[in-house]
Amino acid sequence: MNYSDKVMDHFINPRNVGELENPDGVGQVGNVNCGDIMRMTIKVVDNRITDINFKTFGCGAAIAVSSMVTEMVKGKTLEEAVLINRDDVAVALGGLPDKKLHCSNLGTDALKAAVNDFWRRTGQPQKVVKLED
Ligand code: FES
Ligand code: FES
Repeated sequence: MNYSDKVMDHFINPRNVGELENPDGVGQVGNVNCGDIMRMTIKVVDNRITDINFKTFGCGAAIAVSSMVTEMVKGKTLEEAVLINRDDVAVALGGLPDKKLHCSNLGTDALKAAVNDFWRRTGQPQKVVKLED
């Protein structure tokens, strides 16, 4: 199985790892295929994601995907952020092996869950989006 240089870069040197203090939204999801867990915390200012961290028990592909997701969504509006799907992330990473495509659900779903949490906390439940997995 071959990983692209970008996947290796984000796996070896993942961006935005950890947990934000006093986050405005928290999303935690499990992957139905492998049982791994992903948690994301976000800060929101004026409807934009100003900061985001992730923590995962997932595999290397999940780490690379989540790292890439955090870079892709910083500065985006919440509505823009939840439109990013697993294929967008796989493309941004220069591709993922077929067997590892499900791992990218963890990244995009944890992000969506964190945004959904923000929308629920702020009285906008009508905006809540469905997860992919
Ligand atoms: Fe579990 Fe990749 S195999 S997240
Ligand atoms: Fe857990 Fe892949 S099944 S790392």
